[in-house]
Amino acid sequence: MSTTLSRTETYSLLSLALACVGVLANTFQGDGEPLIASIAFSGLAFCSCYALIRWLGQAFMRRGFKGKDMSKLKQHEIPETMGAVCAMVYLFILVFFIPWPFYKDIVAATSGGGNRDVMKDLDAVETGRLLHRFPHNKLASYLSAILSLQSIVLLGIGDDLFDIRWRHKVLIPAIAVIPMLVVYFVDFGVTKMVVPTPLRPYLGELFDLGWLYYVYMALLSIFSSNSINILAGINGIEVAQSLVIAALIVFNDVLYLSPFTPYPHPATDSHLFSLYLLLPFIGVSLALLMHNWYPAKVFVGDTYCYFAGMVFAVDGILGHFSKTLILLLLPQGFNFVYSAPQLFHLVPCPRHRLPHFNARTGLLECSRVEFKKPLARPIAECLKLLHRLRLLDVEVDGEGNVVSSSNFTIINLWLVWFGPMREDRLALGLLGFQTACGLLGLFIRHRMALLVFTQDNW
Ligand code: UD1
Ligand code: MG
Repeated sequence: MSTTLSRTETYSLLSLALACVGVLANTFQGDGEPLIASIAFSGLAFCSCYALIRWLGQAFMRRGFKGKDMSKLKQHEIPETMGAVCAMVYLFILVFFIPWPFYKDIVAATSGGGNRDVMKDLDAVETGRLLHRFPHNKLASYLSAILSLQSIVLLGIGDDLFDIRWRHKVLIPAIAVIPMLVVYFVDFGVTKMVVPTPLRPYLGELFDLGWLYYVYMALLSIFSSNSINILAGINGIEVAQSLVIAALIVFNDVLYLSPFTPYPHPATDSHLFSLYLLLPFIGVSLALLMHNWYPAKVFVGDTYCYFAGMVFAVDGILGHFSKTLILLLLPQGFNFVYSAPQLFHLVPCPRHRLPHFNARTGLLECSRVEFKKPLARPIAECLKLLHRLRLLDVEVDGEGNVVSSSNFTIINLWLVWFGPMREDRLALGLLGFQTACGLLGLFIRHRMALLVFTQDNW
């Protein structure tokens, strides 16, 4: 990969960056629209991330952050762990952005900030303005989100450095989410869930989960991070699936903003909060995707997968739409459940389950796991049943013993269903499927919520 930017790239990035700075400068006049500022910051995040990935790639390789692209004819090494660059840019952008949504509140509340002529009555100081400006105590949540994301990046880089074993690394997100949970506990502390109508006679309208709510949030972060990491192994899929999820959440957030929802809506603030976390994430991820898409010039590393998953978990928890988030993670969830026999070693799990590259055709085929020792009878029967349901490709010898099967990931399943194909077509197919599932999920969320809840909060 070239380590410098071409002339066109330099000029394009510079003009985009300048435009963003111009927009930012404009927000100083008037009320300083934080949403506009957030969009401008996301543009800046894209530019800096794009350039830094280029400039730092070689340096990463020199320190051993590199990997072989296994689905190519020439398996040369390319930089790995570029997610760390993304995450760093993202975190700094989040910090620089703080004054936009919070500044006026802080100044008015402390009155010493050079803005003494601004008098706000107590009510306004405590709640802030509804649209666009947060009540000042939301800053604590915002900072705790940054802390948790920083922790996950540290732990993720540790994983990329030391290749931590799977059974240990599943717990990484649960540790990283602790800062946010502690702040949630002291600052917000709501652990009640709305009960679906059919269960109301037994549980009441709201059910207090208590400490279990914290377990739920930790599990959500484990799930969203790891499920992205195991739906991986072909160029672009890690970043692109995260972008699809982010775009769907943004779409859902926008439904709660002013032209679509009568203002002021009680959920508007939470969804603005979510947008402020997601837009810069989209910026850095796009820059990464442009380097990671087929044929990949860099790899994202486990750092990116954890980081992306954590952005979603933090966003869903602090934005109070964790159930909607789970709905958007259904393809990842299916892949997780489908992978379970291998993850829990009911059947052997090779170090890599990515599809097999056929050097003769240049296409990807499903990768297989060979069973050297005969499988236990019930497991073998289950695999045969899955084969009959077209959910697995099983090879049986003359005596009816299962000798091999395709690996248990939806990437391989896609290849079982649709036959060998080129790496980018495979990625596009899976992404199309994911987008369709997500849109259907959101439709169900807003149109059919009334079947199980008394009201849709939209
Ligand atoms: C997870 C998966 C593993 C999959 C791997 C690929 C589980 C339990 N683990 O492991 O099955 O093989 O991700 O990311 O499901 N690589 C490519 N092309 C790509 C992306 C990655 O060849 O487009 C290879 C490169 O050699 C790269 C390596 O995969 O260095 C990265 O693997 P790593 O992220 O360390 O694997 P895990 O996350 O442990
Ligand atoms: Mg990985």
